[in-house]
Amino acid sequence: MNKQIVVSGIRPTGFLHLGNYFGAVRNFVRMQEDFNCYFFIADIHSLTTHPTPRDLQSGVKQVLAEYLACGIDPEKATIFIQSDVPEVSELYTLLNMNAYLGELERTTSFKDKARQNPDNVNAGLLTYPVLMAADIIIHKAKYVPVGKDQEQNLEMARKFAKRFNHMYGKKVFPKPKPFTFDGGDMIKVPGLDGSGKMGKSEGNAINLFEDPKSIRQKVMRAVTDSGPTEMNQKKSEAVENLFTLLKIVSTPDSVAHFDALYNKCEIRYGDLKKHLAEEIIAYTSPIRDRIIEILEDDLYLAKVAKLGAEKARESASKTLQEVKEVIGFRKLF
Ligand code: AMP
Ligand code: TRP
Repeated sequence: MNKQIVVSGIRPTGFLHLGNYFGAVRNFVRMQEDFNCYFFIADIHSLTTHPTPRDLQSGVKQVLAEYLACGIDPEKATIFIQSDVPEVSELYTLLNMNAYLGELERTTSFKDKARQNPDNVNAGLLTYPVLMAADIIIHKAKYVPVGKDQEQNLEMARKFAKRFNHMYGKKVFPKPKPFTFDGGDMIKVPGLDGSGKMGKSEGNAINLFEDPKSIRQKVMRAVTDSGPTEMNQKKSEAVENLFTLLKIVSTPDSVAHFDALYNKCEIRYGDLKKHLAEEIIAYTSPIRDRIIEILEDDLYLAKVAKLGAEKARESASKTLQEVKEVIGFRKLF
């Protein structure tokens, strides 16, 4: 039987952090066993923030090495760089004709970014969800493993796919759905600053590449509160976030242990943080070692990117050809 198709990508804007890992990459690694997976580096998307050519190049290399270090296997999954597959940009142009200003302007991430950077509200930012839809539907993906923050972008991808099918009366694109294991909720990994999600631009992230000393420092500095004063007191958001992180990296037993201490008002946040830091280090340090090793091997990285680009272009060009025929482009020569 044909395997279901999966697509997901991450922008090369620096190091991958725990949010990227637990929200996305860990699922990539699990999914490659049973699905036909396309995992890419969204370098075109990252241009909305105008990286220097040097930063762009090092960012792409870093994410590629990190994908491999996390266990994505280029023999099982297709790993590629978005700009190596020009068919994506072509489909993006075509999809843009049926993407409306109003719906693009209403997207939460557009509004957030326009507010944060009023001097750089570029058209790429506005049509970000269209390019993301092109990434996904060009391989006719059924599933997209992403974190909770990408829910709305994914909804837009479904909308554009459906609109195209409807407009031409042909079922060219399946509807891409978010993917989580065991039907669970999409993940949101919290940051260490007391509120919100972990993110690179939020400055509250722990990277996979982070050295143990820096992990300990960051975790020990994480925001908490003055401690519970009543039995079974509801946790503040900052403390809840530390427990959420603990749940992600540690065993149910140690979560239950600290939970019980909290409920009895006997918790010492310093102990919780020490434990959390060591659990994070246990998770990240083997990955970090592999990243260092892989970054040394330019030849291997080039080989992976080349193989990935070939496989991705093969799939993308098939869909693009079909799209062009459906639209009515005819060869006159
Ligand atoms: P980004 O770093 O924004 O390019 O995100 C790349 C991938 O990581 C996307 O699938 C995001 O949904 C996921 N991701 C980023 N931050 C988090 C977070 N704090 N929690 C869960 N998933 C996240
Ligand atoms: N928008 C995603 C992010 O910022 C990255 C991305 C681009 C993506 N294209 C995609 C994710 C296609 C999944 C599928 O995290």
